[in-house]
Amino acid sequence: MLTLSPRPGDLDPIETASRDEITALQLTRLKWTLAHAYGNSPFVRSRFDAVGVHPGDLTTLPDLARFPFTTKQHLRDTYPFGMFAVPRDKLARVHASSGTTGKPTVVGYTLNDVDTWADLVARSIRASGGRAGDMIHIAYGYGLFTGGLGAHYGAERLGCTVIPVSGGMTERQVTLISDFKPKIIMVTPSYMLSILDEFRKQGLDPRESSISVGIFGAEPWTNSMRREIEQAFDMHAVDIYGLSEVLGPGVANECVETKDGLTLWEDHFYPEIIDPETGEVLPDGEMGELVLTTLTKEALPMVRYRTRDLTRILPGTARSMRRIEKITGRSDDMIILRGVNVFPTQIEEQILKCGGLTPHFQIELTRDGRLDYLTVHVESTGRAAAADQRTASAAELGHHIKSVIGITALIDVTAPGGVARSEGKAKRVVDNRPKAE
Ligand code: DLL
Repeated sequence: MLTLSPRPGDLDPIETASRDEITALQLTRLKWTLAHAYGNSPFVRSRFDAVGVHPGDLTTLPDLARFPFTTKQHLRDTYPFGMFAVPRDKLARVHASSGTTGKPTVVGYTLNDVDTWADLVARSIRASGGRAGDMIHIAYGYGLFTGGLGAHYGAERLGCTVIPVSGGMTERQVTLISDFKPKIIMVTPSYMLSILDEFRKQGLDPRESSISVGIFGAEPWTNSMRREIEQAFDMHAVDIYGLSEVLGPGVANECVETKDGLTLWEDHFYPEIIDPETGEVLPDGEMGELVLTTLTKEALPMVRYRTRDLTRILPGTARSMRRIEKITGRSDDMIILRGVNVFPTQIEEQILKCGGLTPHFQIELTRDGRLDYLTVHVESTGRAAAADQRTASAAELGHHIKSVIGITALIDVTAPGGVARSEGKAKRVVDNRPKAE
């Protein structure tokens, strides 16, 4: 694999600033955010007034703990434009995330916000090993989802040649990669697996492809999956994190030289980790729910947004800004099976340990009488995989899940193509249990 460490002059000065400089900047920007949000968003003003806090109450960064949280429900309640802190005609763009309950949650950006976003994605691509002049194939979906356009503006800002493919039409993805020879691909890790299958289907050796860096995010994926993809393509697989409510992609990104968790761009976001049950702020290093406050956003300043993403804050390594550990999952993706908490990423890790299985999987929950059952549907490798080989793989996976996670899972090893393919974010859990009355 190529070595891709940055040269010192490549970085923004703040990426190598001292901790004191970073926290001083955060405090100044946090005061601005609270005053701006309180002054211009009736929603924020009513939330602060309800608990008797005022922007002037914040004199140190930890004082933020006195302010109320914001949740996805607040965005739903104020649908579509009720949370913005600028007049509608100052919005340069809106995006939305697909809602599970019908209506999406809408987010907005001023021109300055779009500009900051482009800078942060450019910084993220550079941290992943990208440079001006590189060709980037973008297979995140374009449209209301923030992935495609977010990646696009950042890649342009860095000075790259952008191929705006969007998701889907997997055969054509492979043709374009083979013909245009991009150095970088930006796509969800699960869709990268579909692209990998298509390479093999077309009789092409993925290790011979031009791609040397993949910037993968928008869904949880494990270090085992990283190894799988890096091996298959002879490339670097780097993690990018973000969420539309706070920005889109580019809130945090791994540095290719360390691949040890994601550097959180602390000059634009202030992170806290809380106990998801009590809401109490936890010290760095402890696992909990990530809460983010934007420091520069104009259209939609977010104060203490509860991401539901589970991680912990770690000290800086490749940069002076702090890192977040690779995200294990979302608290709302957690399955509780007979009292044991299970995340899809834990199942993914066990699958990748087994011979004869591909990383394509889906978890199905069913109920029989009063008992819940968890079935892992996973594909076998070769079309010719004999029945006894499949039985052996199923037994091996069942054993690993039992001994490492502590649950009894039913295993369904399907023929290749038996599990629904992702073209964007993978749907890992299908809940077929009867809905509560
Ligand atoms: O997924 C933004 C994005 C696009 C990030 C492209 C990275 C790349 P939403 O659709 O609002 O925004 O979904 C945000 O996706 O709260 C996490 O649960 C999950 N997520 C995003 N990135 C990662 C990641 C985009 N690297 C939600 N690892 C977040 C794990 C991720 N989960």
